Amino acid sequence: MQIIQTVREMQHWSEDRRLERKTVAFVPTMGFLHEGHLSLVREAKNRGDVVVVSIFVNPMQFNQSSDFDKYPRNEAQDERALKELDTDVLFMPPPAEIYPDGYQSAVEVEQVSQPLCGAFRPGHFRGVATVVAKLFNMVKPHCALFGEKDFQQCVVIKRMVRDLNFDIDIVSLPTVREDDGLAMSSRNARLSAAERETSLCVSRALTAAQELVSGGQTSAAVILQSVQQILTQNAEVRVEYASLCHPETLEEVELISGPTLLAIAVWVGEVRLIDNCVLH
Ligand code: PAJ
Repeated sequence: MQIIQTVREMQHWSEDRRLERKTVAFVPTMGFLHEGHLSLVREAKNRGDVVVVSIFVNPMQFNQSSDFDKYPRNEAQDERALKELDTDVLFMPPPAEIYPDGYQSAVEVEQVSQPLCGAFRPGHFRGVATVVAKLFNMVKPHCALFGEKDFQQCVVIKRMVRDLNFDIDIVSLPTVREDDGLAMSSRNARLSAAERETSLCVSRALTAAQELVSGGQTSAAVILQSVQQILTQNAEVRVEYASLCHPETLEEVELISGPTLLAIAVWVGEVRLIDNCVLH
């Protein structure tokens, strides 16, 4: 596995692979890799002749600098995991390579960045869209893979790729969970044992909602009431949002009449957790 740290070298490497008519598959990450990330890398191996994984903790998408500072990192372990999966390139640029002095541009994807996480993390999706657009120009992939764990992020990136004519296939893959249902996340490492147990209410709420819909319930209000009840059983959980919305426009729905996204964000102690599922 080759480790590349400069934009120049990354662009040249990809240009050379393209001249050899190889397809480049790309998985952008912020590191502290777990099975969720690795599932994307494995699928990237199936979809591309060569695979690039990036690790860059992007300051522009953190709206609280304390969250950025606390973001977990473990480069040695990440390197080992990626080597084991036969990753071709680990792209690990230092911050000044991505945001050099004088940097002042951004990508704004308007409507779909507004609701859900966008309403509580101002500027977050502007930071995500900007860094992903920049990474696309550095890695020049044919396809890029994202996890549905960050469902709104997938919607924002797909919209950006369509709107700005990036010639890249965007692939989204299902959320990888722990055996007990908790969605894998780098942030889970910050949960105490008790908080970890409490966090299970999120996946339980998703399952309960799916059961209601399977049983014929179509009222968003009724479903959300049950979701809220499950989430607030433990006083340590603070619900940021629980929302039923259209999976492409992210507009809230009142009646379930087709596939509907249930998206949840909660705080368990000091840790913010998100999860979602598409109800059928
Ligand atoms: P990060 O949180 O490191 O996630 C990298 C990719 O892994 C994202 O596409 C995310 O959706 C996916 N992922 C995380 N947990 C997952 C799980 N449990 N199952 C499946 N996929 C999972 O998302 C980001 O980084 C950043 O915003 C980034 C796109 C890299 C831009 O900075």
